[in-house]
Amino acid sequence: MIKQAIIPLAGLGTRMLPLTSVMPKELIPINGKPNLEYIMEECVNAGIKEFIFVISENKSAIKKYFFNDKFYKKIINKKKDKRIKNEFLKIKKYQKMIKFVYQNKPEGTGDAVLKCQKYIKDKYFLMLLADDLIINTNCSKELINLHKKTKSSIIATKKVQKKDVSRWGILSVTNKKKNYFQISDVVEKPSVKKAPSNFAIIGRYILPKKIFKEIKKLKPGQGGEIHITDAIRNLIYKDNKFYGNIFKGKYLDCGTINGYINSCIEIYKGKK
Ligand code: G1P
Repeated sequence: MIKQAIIPLAGLGTRMLPLTSVMPKELIPINGKPNLEYIMEECVNAGIKEFIFVISENKSAIKKYFFNDKFYKKIINKKKDKRIKNEFLKIKKYQKMIKFVYQNKPEGTGDAVLKCQKYIKDKYFLMLLADDLIINTNCSKELINLHKKTKSSIIATKKVQKKDVSRWGILSVTNKKKNYFQISDVVEKPSVKKAPSNFAIIGRYILPKKIFKEIKKLKPGQGGEIHITDAIRNLIYKDNKFYGNIFKGKYLDCGTINGYINSCIEIYKGKK
């Protein structure tokens, strides 16, 4: 069973300036709810029991958001507002589920995941990138179902336009079925010429515990960062099975201003 989810949250959010100059991008609301809560709800509905948040000292607001008990209690004592009480109950539920680890230098997703090593108990865990929202399906649940079927590692994937491949981690496809395929290679942000397909990694992964050992061996890759993609690649080369799950829902990019504005519109349309 997949019970734990790692969420790297230490990124600076420069693509979202000016909104991120004082507020972590993961707390910016989309239709009245922080981006991060959409991700958490997806996880809880997929059976996740524990979150490991990788934050930095600059992003302590994330911790405060979930642990501001004094503030809530003062208000609840004064006003008997049911909505606020329910929000507080939700926060209290999340408090019990979250552990924090720190990544104070932005050294990449691989480095962020490695920082969680001591907390991971089971053979496999879920990892989600909060910039990537997926609506109209529970993508984590889809990944978990495919993991149950294949007993292997899983990555969420979707087809992107060929001209855009250098924005993503790109997968090599073998044994393609309707909704999934085996991954025979992966390249982080390749040129159009070097891309093995146009199936891109979207930020949901079921990874094996043994990936920590691979991350430790990595040297900084693309952009001087330690990429989880490179550790995955080395595991594939050592005959570990990885499958790409072609998820059903709609992908929304919440990591750029234009993507964020579009996400607000799409989620609003879905609620009408
Ligand atoms: C990261 C991954 C990349 C993946 C993308 C999905 O890139 O490194 O492989 O395709 O997330 O959003 P980033 O968005 O951090 O540049």
